[in-house]
Amino acid sequence: MLMRILAVGDVCGKAGLDHLARALPALRRSRGIDFAVVNGENANVVGVTPAQCEELFKSGADVVTLGNHTWTRTEMRDYLARSTRVLRPANYAPQCPGQGVGVYETRFGPIRVINAMGRFTLDANTDNPFVVVDSIVAEEDIKITLVDFHAEATSEKLAMGYFLEGRASAVWGTHTHVQTSDCQVLEGGTGYITDLGMTGPSRSVLGIEIEQSIGKMLGDPPRRYNPAGGKCKMECALFELESETGRCVSAEALRVE
Ligand SMILES: [Fe+2]
Ligand SMILES: [Fe+2]
Repeated sequence: MLMRILAVGDVCGKAGLDHLARALPALRRSRGIDFAVVNGENANVVGVTPAQCEELFKSGADVVTLGNHTWTRTEMRDYLARSTRVLRPANYAPQCPGQGVGVYETRFGPIRVINAMGRFTLDANTDNPFVVVDSIVAEEDIKITLVDFHAEATSEKLAMGYFLEGRASAVWGTHTHVQTSDCQVLEGGTGYITDLGMTGPSRSVLGIEIEQSIGKMLGDPPRRYNPAGGKCKMECALFELESETGRCVSAEALRVE
């Protein structure tokens, strides 16, 4: 049986949340999406609150993944400890609350979702994501594994894609907020894209007000980030899988305005 997985790029601010609430249910219907994973780490611009995670679920996310802004809001600690559908990077230290992997029962069988974070330029004291993901995948034989690799460097993300080729059904990158043009099915049957892009204001610098971002580049002292306004886009990728084998048969990058 063919199943359709949607992976949605970092949702940015209130505008991004509102756009997701309009665009995701419509796309789920029009493209027959069976399971959607949404990166929510910027729903509060820098970080996310429990209430915003609930909003993401209401808009149609089955699982919410995070990244380097996981701990910005302290109320996320308790929430992560009890939530099974919100994942933080699996390679955070073991004393961190929450989990980086979840297995979800669907009519196609179990789906395993892994969230991991790269180390290049991301200032976090994390374990080696390749070693951590490798051991998670080896733990249990599950046909369908989806990986959100939250990382800065294209090299780190590509290497993760090939590292999991034939072992994961789809691997996608998040964090850089700019959609890459390399959405593809790797020879081993793994859907892959280096970065999904983002869900938020189209005319912005990664979701942030343009003037503020230019000012920062010019040397302005640091300020609290202001989200940009205006029209939004939802950037995502659709992976079609054979549910019996977990093999990806098609991969398509999408932008919904
Ligand atoms: Fe990030
Ligand atoms: Fe982000």
